[in-house]
Amino acid sequence: MATKATTTKKSTAAKSTPAKSTSKSAASKSTPAKSAAPKSSPAKAADAKKIPAKKDAAKELKDLFEDSLKDIYWAEKALTKALPKMHKNATDVKLKQAISDHLAQTKNQVKRLEDCFAALGKKAEAKKCDAMQGLLDEGESIIEETKPGAVRDAGIIAASQKVEHYEIATYGTLAAFAKVLKEKKCLKYLLETLEEEKQCDELLSSIADTNLNSKAL
Ligand SMILES: [Fe+2]
Ligand SMILES: [Fe+2]
Repeated sequence: MATKATTTKKSTAAKSTPAKSTSKSAASKSTPAKSAAPKSSPAKAADAKKIPAKKDAAKELKDLFEDSLKDIYWAEKALTKALPKMHKNATDVKLKQAISDHLAQTKNQVKRLEDCFAALGKKAEAKKCDAMQGLLDEGESIIEETKPGAVRDAGIIAASQKVEHYEIATYGTLAAFAKVLKEKKCLKYLLETLEEEKQCDELLSSIADTNLNSKAL
């Protein structure tokens, strides 16, 4: 859904350009947004500071890999608690089914991560993922800020897809790390989960496109 929305915006912007006669010259300069950026960047660069590493900071890619596994392990466990709330507050039958199916997948993804830790000879450990906490907080806010029915369902899909995109990015990166680190078992587990997250995202897009968004008008 997110991708399509971006595409639509781009094409809309392209169509609307001729209407703005003064913007023709600006458009021919190709990137008005970029030309505005350098004005503010020198000040920002002066304010920026180097961030000192923590005592237990990762030294090698393997440390970063294991640290990121702890983050997503926390995130998946948090999702097993959040998805039932999403399910309870959704109305559309297809959406409710998609959420309950993904809850079952998510529980299995938690086990898969435990298998991944075991393959590394490590005990499964969760470390709070601030990004996922933020996304889940936003999901709860969307529920509070929408009336039950099609509009709330559209909001639940929007929030859920942000979660799925975060997971896709995370598992994509973790799989790339596992490949370089030659952790074949982990790579297999991570790619299996990555595929499930992608399929879930596509299913949510199709539910929104074919059913829900037009009802929410
Ligand atoms: Fe997941
Ligand atoms: Fe997911």
